[in-house]
Amino acid sequence: MYRTHNNGELRVSNVGEEVTLAGWVQKSRDKGFIVWVDLRDRYGITQLVFDEERTPKEMMDKASKLGREFVIQVTGNVIERESKNPKMPTGDIEILVKEVTILNASLTPPFTIEDDTDGGEDLRMKYRYLDIRRNPVRENLLFRHKVSMAVRNYLSNEGFVDVETPYLIKSTPEGARDFVVPSRMNEGQFYALPQSPQTFKQLLMVGGLDKYFQIVKCFRDEDLRADRQPEFTQIDCEMAFIEQEDILNMFEGLTRHLLKEINGVEIGDFPRMQYDDAMRLYGNDKPDIRFDMKFGELNEVTQHKDFGVFNSAELIVGIAVPGGNKYTRKEIDNIIKWVKRPQVGAMGMIYSRCNDDGTFKSSVDKFYDQEDLAKWAEVTGAKQGDLVVVLSGETNKVRAQMSALRMHLATELGLRDPKVFAPLWVIDFPLLELDEETGHYHAMHHPFTSPKPGQLELLDSKPGEVKANAYDLVLNGNEIGGGSIRIHDKETQAIMLKHLGFSEEEARAQFGFLMDAFEYGAPPHGGLAFGLDRLVAILGGQETIRDFIAFPKNNSGRDVMIDAPAPLDAAQLEELNLDVVIKK
Ligand code: AMO
Repeated sequence: MYRTHNNGELRVSNVGEEVTLAGWVQKSRDKGFIVWVDLRDRYGITQLVFDEERTPKEMMDKASKLGREFVIQVTGNVIERESKNPKMPTGDIEILVKEVTILNASLTPPFTIEDDTDGGEDLRMKYRYLDIRRNPVRENLLFRHKVSMAVRNYLSNEGFVDVETPYLIKSTPEGARDFVVPSRMNEGQFYALPQSPQTFKQLLMVGGLDKYFQIVKCFRDEDLRADRQPEFTQIDCEMAFIEQEDILNMFEGLTRHLLKEINGVEIGDFPRMQYDDAMRLYGNDKPDIRFDMKFGELNEVTQHKDFGVFNSAELIVGIAVPGGNKYTRKEIDNIIKWVKRPQVGAMGMIYSRCNDDGTFKSSVDKFYDQEDLAKWAEVTGAKQGDLVVVLSGETNKVRAQMSALRMHLATELGLRDPKVFAPLWVIDFPLLELDEETGHYHAMHHPFTSPKPGQLELLDSKPGEVKANAYDLVLNGNEIGGGSIRIHDKETQAIMLKHLGFSEEEARAQFGFLMDAFEYGAPPHGGLAFGLDRLVAILGGQETIRDFIAFPKNNSGRDVMIDAPAPLDAAQLEELNLDVVIKK
């Protein structure tokens, strides 16, 4: 037996017992006549003591050779410490070692295995197995386990069946590029890795499974950000014989359960917001509603004066920054610099101070008098002591810029408390989205999403106005899940694919299997998928998903530990016959 106890377990009540422990040397302090070693494992740290008077000489010699991260096994007696450490659960005791075995030596680790490590991001990724030994990373992985177990239990209790769907499939369009896998046995042909199991879960509904879920890897070749990885995990769900309302209730229930189980937070009914309102009031489709700062549209109260910038703008929008009148001129200049950065792209920013005496002082006093500025305050909901900041320009751009500014200022003002949770359903998404570059419409959610009843006719005349039975679940300004009610008849699916630019042959080649299935008694169905990595990160009070993934990719999509992607050797390439494909 390697150990009788783990390193987080022993207390004063164990004093006098002989125990055997195993683990890693966190650190050792060698005074010659006495050596202390902190022994670490997943469960905690236990202090070992080697003492010239009581420990055999041979063992004292071994103790002096122990380096950081050596793997050792020790046997000894639990004794009460003279100077206790109330900060450690095992801080009342130590082990007086009789025998130590070095199970494996270790090179000096390239960074310190401590909560605040000296290792940079790249180094920690390269030696991720060492990083996982650190408390914060390990705790994140344990936290993820807790969340995924809670999800499994909840859904299983609700009657959902966990079904595995294949990874070697044909392209499923979810808006990103596919990762492809050449087939050796089918020369010149490729599988695509699923961007999601979308079509399979729909087929499971045709198969009569009624309620499906899967905690599943998805693969998307897209640009990476803090909340995006090329391979990530979904809690993928589908239900038959349901309406949108049933789906919202079911997954609101799951989310509420997680918030209670994991975070101890009780939340009532989740608010719902129309997509159009989210865009108008917050400038994006995943508003953080932990704080107010809603957009006030100022066109009517600004466009009657001689201020050319506003007169020529499509949209003029302002927000009230709470307590913002306290900003110095320099601080306001810094905000202006911030919005003018290329990443945000505003041309400039106008502001109006709401003084404590009820007067206003704006950066455009030449054009606007006190009465005008009072209206700005009214429209944005600004109070005395606030600052109204205003951006103007083309609607979509201004909304995106103001949304970025709103989040930036709220972060600076400490309004984005990670311990406060504000879930929100955003509903009634448009069915189609115009790609400004190509001028073509594509499915905003995916091509299998059904339009709202009675709106199919609008597809020809006003494609941009058709609303879908599609919804997103937003938590603290992050999209943690999304889904829709699906099309379940061949004709509607064919119309939809035609509008997305597929010829009949292309639609047949790519989605024939699904359309065929729709002809054999497909029930009405719909579903949703949560991004597990995002959900876990946010419940854990963070927004970077990488910290909650055991072996994540870096920003260039590389795994720097195993050094992937990598070239294939010539023999493997030849076997795959890729040159034949290229020559064709
Ligand atoms: P969608 O594309 O909205 O829907 O994805 C569902 C959720 O997955 C998460 N997500 C990601 N997380 C990390 N890295 C990524 N690259 C990434 N991309 C998406 C998000 C998102 O809300 N098949 C549909 C679901 C359905 O209709 O039922 C789908 O995949 O949190």
